[in-house]
Amino acid sequence: MTSALFQPISLGELRLPNRIVVSPMCQYSATDGNASDWHLIHLGQLALGGAGLLCVEATAVEAIGRITPNCLGLYSDDNETALRRVLAALRRHADTPLAIQLAHAGRKGSSHTPWDGGKLMQPNAGGWEPIAPSALPFSPSEQPPREMTAADLDRVRDAFVRTAQRAARLGFDAIELHAAHGYLLHEFLSPLANRRSDSYGGSLENRMRFPLEVFSAVREVWPEAKPLGVRISASDWIDCGWDLPQSIEFAQRLKRAGCDWIDASSGGLAPEQKITLVPGYQVPFAEAIRKAVGIPTIAVGLITEPRQAEDIVASGKADMVALARGMLFDPHWAWRAAAELGGEVRAPKQYWRAPPRAAETIFRGAKLGQR
Ligand SMILES: Cc1cc2nc3c(=O)[nH]c(=O)nc-3n(C[C@H](O)[C@H](O)[C@H](O)COP(=O)(O)O)c2cc1C
Repeated sequence: MTSALFQPISLGELRLPNRIVVSPMCQYSATDGNASDWHLIHLGQLALGGAGLLCVEATAVEAIGRITPNCLGLYSDDNETALRRVLAALRRHADTPLAIQLAHAGRKGSSHTPWDGGKLMQPNAGGWEPIAPSALPFSPSEQPPREMTAADLDRVRDAFVRTAQRAARLGFDAIELHAAHGYLLHEFLSPLANRRSDSYGGSLENRMRFPLEVFSAVREVWPEAKPLGVRISASDWIDCGWDLPQSIEFAQRLKRAGCDWIDASSGGLAPEQKITLVPGYQVPFAEAIRKAVGIPTIAVGLITEPRQAEDIVASGKADMVALARGMLFDPHWAWRAAAELGGEVRAPKQYWRAPPRAAETIFRGAKLGQR
């Protein structure tokens, strides 16, 4: 087999059978942070699709760290019980490695779900007062969030730790910390959202301090053999904002602290961003970070075609590719890629009759008999 996309890769002691990652995707379908039947159906279909890693959506480390009141959480015993049921079902039927993305929404918390317009939700309408590094709103027309106190910093860092411990108990194979898309950790990094005058704001060193403290605290409790990665927005796409050189510095620091991969996304910090959306538009970030830092990277964003994904990995621009919308559109995308590129995937035996004749051999170990 010559496809680069279908070569295994090891992250820590976790071996992924191929380089295809199902990108984390919020489902806004939880109650009080509790996973629902929807999660079973949604993650179930994605876990059967042959990807090398399936990353569960942004999962809040405290209730006010949810984006919407319907976002998934892992901050209570009930949350843990609800997610355990989903994981048990996935494990019974699929051996796809499972990651979970741990997140705090910061000033983007207390929002309506996208299908209800996505705007800021007032506390008297079921929302809450969001917190952020500084009292600066996402959009000038919105009420500002509350600036975090030293006690807030301690509480949120500890919440990340406790949630990582819950993820370990649930048997997740990997954690990705969400430091992208304008959520709390990204807000600390960006000089446009962080105007603090204490040791957590100002210089690059200071702005990186809280995200690095959270990373190290999680690394300490997360089992050593299990990988811990970070998703960043490699650019705010706004003048004087967070950018690639700062991302490289941050990735260097994360690598030294024991980070296993950088998932290079971008944007989401503020409405003024100017992004030109073209296929693979964020791949250059993954490539630059990989080259400068020597850390495995995930490229993500408008990667839709198997040959496009193959080229990214084969040419050394990234170690893995993540797909979000493409996976919703075709949860068996990895099967299609295997058929097109001459790869192999694992598939449930109930589906072993599926491959078209020209791709008969894509299911590893498949054998069928009949009388
Ligand atoms: C429905 C949906 C939900 C998303 N939720 C998350 C999320 O929970 N965490 C995250 O980091 N990115 C999230 N994203 C962004 C995707 O992970 C991905 O980075 C982005 O969609 C670009 O990849 P794509 O072009 O393959 O869709 C979401 C995207 C979609 C479409």
